[in-house]
Amino acid sequence: IAAPLLAFLAGYALGAIPFGVLLTRLTGAGDLRTIGSGNIGATNVLRTGRKGLAAATLLLDIVKGTAALAVASLLFPEHISFAAFGAFIGHLYPVWLKFAGGKGVATYFGLILGYCILGALHWWVAAIYAGLWVGTLALTRYSSVAGMTAALLSPAAAAVSGRFDLALLFLGFGLILFWKHRANLERLLAGTEPQVGGRKDG
Ligand code: G3P
Repeated sequence: IAAPLLAFLAGYALGAIPFGVLLTRLTGAGDLRTIGSGNIGATNVLRTGRKGLAAATLLLDIVKGTAALAVASLLFPEHISFAAFGAFIGHLYPVWLKFAGGKGVATYFGLILGYCILGALHWWVAAIYAGLWVGTLALTRYSSVAGMTAALLSPAAAAVSGRFDLALLFLGFGLILFWKHRANLERLLAGTEPQVGGRKDG
């Protein structure tokens, strides 16, 4: 029982690092939680007008997911998915921000990348996620729709890749990710969701 819990906590410790909040605060770009949607992710960092900071947030939120799996593969090779779950929950519910964290799209991608690097999933699972994410963003300009679309198909992709256990885990990720996007879903239905690079941006 101790090893899975430690794996979860190691993942959580990495996932809970709120890079968006840290980078915007350290560079004087403001308090992310009082800007735009109030979310701590790269999309909201973009609303500060700092594209470089948004790109850095995106990259670091991805990398912390991948790092969680890399660390777990060394320390808890039997319990890698506990670390993955910990990293995802850490990003969404970080203790440092009174559990008001992000929405999981970038960190989820980092976790998929980690599974690909470890040889647990075929690389096309990551390619499908990235393709749906970037493709839907380009088509709709809604970051939330892009993230939800990518998350929607990942359980099926993991299953086709032969990992039904990961398909179940990803199903869990998807449910929590959609739950975290409920304000976005309401805005989308009301027609008030801001588009990336659009006039309604922010
Ligand atoms: O990854 C977060 C994105 O899906 C939505 O962000 O700030 O528009 O709520 P935001």
